[in-house]
Amino acid sequence: MKKNRIALYVAIAGLASLFIIGAVYAQDDIKSLKHDIFVERERPVALFPHALHADEAGIDCLECHHIYKDGENVWDESEESDCTACHRLKADGKKQPAMRAFHANCKECHEKEGKGPLTCGECHPRKK
Ligand code: HEC
Ligand code: HEC
Ligand code: HEC
Ligand code: HEC
Repeated sequence: MKKNRIALYVAIAGLASLFIIGAVYAQDDIKSLKHDIFVERERPVALFPHALHADEAGIDCLECHHIYKDGENVWDESEESDCTACHRLKADGKKQPAMRAFHANCKECHEKEGKGPLTCGECHPRKK
């Protein structure tokens, strides 16, 4: 009986650590964005290779992430990183609606840099 218990705890601990490793891996490996707030989607979820932007292209985190305090962007890694925590379906005060906030962020930079996709189908590709 006691041995079974211990075996059970070991199994649970093993599973739990797998989940933790999985979560850390997933964080490093965002490939597309999916949000619960878009309930009836019009387009397939947008592609967004996070590591390509943040690591390979070396873009400053603050180009995309922000929390404004007295007009200053004070975001750091411990802060909210989900855009839809603040940008919802509809505008709220100064916070523009989510779709507009994403499009503005992504497209303005791609236009400025002359790099990265600008057409609907490149960002929202139909599944092959
Ligand atoms: C080009 C824009 C961009 C850059 C640059 C960027 N991020 Fe992100 N990041 C995003 C977007 C978009 C998401 C997804 C947000 C969402 O789903 O609402 C995200 C998500 C995250 C998350 C949440 C991960 C998860 O699994 O949910 C973390 C943490 C994060 N970013 C940290 C960083 C750090 C640290 C840097 C700088 C080294 C950085 N980001 C640079 C756009 C960017
Ligand atoms: C903690 C809340 C919060 C989070 C999280 C957040 N935003 Fe914002 N965002 C704001 C507010 C507030 C403004 C308005 C700032 C102003 O006009 O003073 C804003 C403004 C913007 C703007 C207009 C231009 C600018 O930078 O001021 C864009 C584009 C934008 N957000 C995109 C994003 C994206 C993309 C993410 C996720 C990577 C994100 N936001 C996450 C609160 C947030
Ligand atoms: C501050 C600048 C900047 C912002 C903001 C930005 N991008 Fe990009 N993006 C780039 C650059 C630069 C490249 C080209 C990187 C390369 O190929 O080296 C790129 C490339 C891409 C690519 C092509 C990847 C590939 O495999 O060739 C996709 C898809 C993309 N971006 C999606 C997005 C989305 C979605 C957002 C908004 C959530 C976004 N980007 C925001 C600068 C940006
Ligand atoms: C640079 C990449 C990019 C381009 C170009 C782009 N989008 Fe998006 N779009 C996004 C991101 C990021 C989101 C938020 C994440 C998501 O839900 O896919 C989004 C969300 C949406 C949404 C809300 C979710 C839904 O499906 O209802 C619609 C609608 C949309 N886009 C339509 C378009 C249309 C139409 C075009 C062309 C005129 C376009 N997008 C071009 C990146 C892009």
